[in-house]
Amino acid sequence: MTVLVRDLDVALGGRPVLNGVSLDAPAGSWTAIIGPNGAGKSTLLRAVLGLVPSHGEVTVAGVDLGTLKPRQRARLIAYTPQNPNLPVGMTAFDYTLLGRSPYIPHLGREGARDRVITAEVLDRLDLTAFAARPLGHLSGGERQRVVLARALAQQTSVLLLDEPTAALDIGHQQQVMELIDRLRLSDELTVVTTIHDLTLAGQYADRLVLISAGRVAVAGEPAQVLTRAAVEEHFDARVRVTPGAGGRPVLSLERP
Ligand SMILES: Nc1ncnc2c1ncn2[C@@H]1O[C@H](COP(=O)(O)OP(=O)(O)O)[C@@H](O)[C@H]1O
Ligand SMILES: [Mg+2]
Repeated sequence: MTVLVRDLDVALGGRPVLNGVSLDAPAGSWTAIIGPNGAGKSTLLRAVLGLVPSHGEVTVAGVDLGTLKPRQRARLIAYTPQNPNLPVGMTAFDYTLLGRSPYIPHLGREGARDRVITAEVLDRLDLTAFAARPLGHLSGGERQRVVLARALAQQTSVLLLDEPTAALDIGHQQQVMELIDRLRLSDELTVVTTIHDLTLAGQYADRLVLISAGRVAVAGEPAQVLTRAAVEEHFDARVRVTPGAGGRPVLSLERP
């Protein structure tokens, strides 16, 4: 399903945070939102979901999200926050099962199918061994994968992931990115992630949107966006950009 954002403005605490942000994420595409700390990346995802007040237009498959009830919206879009507030006493299995809530009738219980889907998702994320463990007894990286598991258990067509790899070691970063990519290709998922590792963003996304001070500074294919000049201007960093596999840019820091 296509996600369209048009001229989105958000103000928080009386201060403008996003100004006229637009983006197009066609069905089956992967868009990475990049930008320096505090640029407004998390706010953009939160505004798309209606978690913060905004002006502008957000549609999924042509439907204005503002017109949907929370349950309907949760069948369409799954979201993982950057710093989720986790119930530390809940097991990884039960937390992942929460992803099935939009399909469980009010006052009803989950069915066998919901438990099967939950177990499958945990398995795909290498989490079966942790299923019975309370979230408070998991490492940061394990918890981050459980949060993704909950979103995948929601079986939506759109995934909005805020820094999904931030706490992961390089092996689990690759595992999570490859899994998201496989799902996107097999199920035509529309993926929008914020991600602060620019090389990782450029390796997986087909489109990058660089947000700087609340505005879209550049958008396009990774090689168009991740230029030495743009990284210097918006991140105040000196980098070398070299073409990697498929012409996708690889960044390395340059010592002064
Ligand atoms: N609830 C809030 N009230 C006021 N300012 C906020 C609030 N949430 C975020 N901000 C500000 O909005 C800006 C963008 O934040 P955020 O979207 O989290 O940035 P990013 O995810 O790009 O690092 C920051 O300057 C942040 O301090
Ligand atoms: Mg953020």
